[in-house]
This record gives sequence, C-alpha cells and structure tokens, in this order.
Amino acid sequence: MKTLLAIAPSPRRNGNSETLLKEFCRAAEDAGWKVDMLRVNSMNFKPCQACDACAKDGKCILKDDMQDVYPKVAAADALVITSPVTFGSLNAQLKMFIDRFQCWWNAKYTLEKPFVREDENRQGFFICVGALQRKRYCENAEEIIRVFFHNINYKLAGKLFFRGYDEKGAILEDPEALAETYRAGKDFIATVEGQ
Ligand SMILES: Cc1cc2nc3c(=O)[nH]c(=O)nc-3n(C[C@H](O)[C@H](O)[C@H](O)COP(=O)(O)O)c2cc1C
Repeated sequence: MKTLLAIAPSPRRNGNSETLLKEFCRAAEDAGWKVDMLRVNSMNFKPCQACDACAKDGKCILKDDMQDVYPKVAAADALVITSPVTFGSLNAQLKMFIDRFQCWWNAKYTLEKPFVREDENRQGFFICVGALQRKRYCENAEEIIRVFFHNINYKLAGKLFFRGYDEKGAILEDPEALAETYRAGKDFIATVEGQ
C-alpha cells in the first residue's frame, strides 16, 4: 500500500488548512492509499541550531520529535503540505519544521548521499490558505516550499491557493473549494501512480 505523508502545521485543529488537507487526503484514501498526517503544532522540537554536526553524516543530533519525521519523509510515496498564511508567508511551525531539514541539505550537497534520490521523481503538493486576497502571500509561502522540495529531492507537482478565508470553518461554507481540493488530490494520486 502506498503512503501519502500529510503535513498540517496550523495550531487550529480542523481549521481551514487542515480541512482542505483532509479533503485532499480523502482522495488518496479513496484510491487505496494510506495517509499519515503529522500535526506539526503538536510536536515537540527545537529550531535548527546551525551546529553543522550533520555535515559529517547527514543526521541531526537534536533528539526530539523530528527524529520520527525523517524516516517518514524518506519512505513516503508522496507528500502534501498545507499552511495558513501568517505575516505574509507560511506559518512559523512549518518554517521551523523545514529548517530542521538542514541535515538533508548536508546529506545532498556536502556528502552527496541524499536520503531520497533525485531520479526517484518523488512528488509533492502544496495547499495554502489566507485571510486576505493578496496572492503574493501564498506565492511567498510557495517559494519556501519550492526550496524545501528542491533540497529533499521532491518535485512540486501542483498547488492550490485559497484566499479570503479567515474564521475557523470559513472554508466549510465553500463546497466548491472543498470539491476542487478533492479533485486536485485525485489528479495528484493519478499522476504519481502513472509515472
Ligand atoms: C498570527 C497570524 C498571522 C496571520 N497573518 C496573515 C497574513 O499576513 N495574511 C493573510 O492573508 N492572513 C493572515 N492570517 C489569517 C490566516 O491565514 C487565516 O485565518 C487562515 O484561514 C487560517 O488557517 P487555519 O484555520 O488553517 O489556521 C494570520 C493568522 C494568524 C493567526
């Protein structure tokens, strides 16, 4: 059975980004995939300390919840990440999570032994939701996701931006947004399976 790893960084349980993520994941489950959802806000981990210890073996020396994440990203068949916009970009929880992949950066560039090979053609998807209409905020977040994916050898296969949703549950009042996300999930899984 294939596994979709889903990253939910909002502190709001069942908030707008998590609701969209669940719709996307429902499509994967309907296609027979297993979904493993990580709630970053509930994890205990420190930000990267820039100690560079990972330059010798690609491993992070901080013994916290991130240690369970690395093998999951290495083993996943595909990845989907969501984020609420905060202060014009992706949220702090997700940025801190991404920065802890500095060990993967060292594995790829310093040691030339990446945990995921580029020719595996691993695919990822990004879903961003913000309160304001400004598209640039989601684009800022996307840029960081692109850098992250590049460093971990995943490809950004697609993205969805939802703007104008603020209150918890606002997205539930837009069945078309949910349907669009389900369809995107279906197409994404079909693409991954077809490659
Ligand atoms: C700390 C904080 C900062 C925010 N900054 C922005 C912002 O700069 N631009 C924006 O469009 N929305 C901003 N928002 C609104 C959220 O993006 C919006 O409420 C979103 O729907 C939350 O998604 P969630 O329910 O998944 O947490 C901010 C929310 C918080 C809590």
